[in-house]
Amino acid sequence: MRTRMFVMAALAAVSLMACGGKGKGGGGGGGSAMAEKSLYDRLGGKDAITAVVEDFVGNVAADKRINTFFANADIPGLKQKLVDQICEATGGPCKYAGKDMKTAHAGMGVKDADFAAIVEDLVKSLDKFKVPQKEKDELLGALGGMKGDIVTAQ
Ligand code: HEM
Repeated sequence: MRTRMFVMAALAAVSLMACGGKGKGGGGGGGSAMAEKSLYDRLGGKDAITAVVEDFVGNVAADKRINTFFANADIPGLKQKLVDQICEATGGPCKYAGKDMKTAHAGMGVKDADFAAIVEDLVKSLDKFKVPQKEKDELLGALGGMKGDIVTAQ
């Protein structure tokens, strides 16, 4: 009898939780289990982002159109900051502790064409790691929003 009472109570609790879950959805059609994963998760998390950044910085270093900008750069430091920045910007658990984009690129005279070259170098890496179009577009969209702070010359 005690067991039966327990089972009944447990069933009641479960059905209450199920109702509560649906009710909280606010008519959006789909609870948290249906919510889309963060871009960070869809990209494959920190290891995948690190692999892309590693390859991307290699492309930049070999890119004669823009590599002179990085002649005195701290490449390992830059890689770490890029990983943290992308991780944070895509909803990951990292905290970017570098300079804001305006300060970081002030006085460099970065032009539109330089920005386009860097995006091209990144796309090469995203394609190499077979990042799907949707995730690629979302990431490039997020980085594209920084362009106004980075490009300062004609
Ligand atoms: C979406 C595009 C870009 C992003 C997300 C980005 C991001 C960053 C970050 C996070 C840093 C480190 C800031 C710090 O030291 O605290 C940095 C530095 C730097 N960026 Fe960019 N950047 C972009 C575009 C460009 C472009 C187009 C150029 C030039 C062609 C450029 C040249 C540099 C240089 C030379 C540094 C200094 C590196 C050093 O001294 O160690 N960046 N950038």
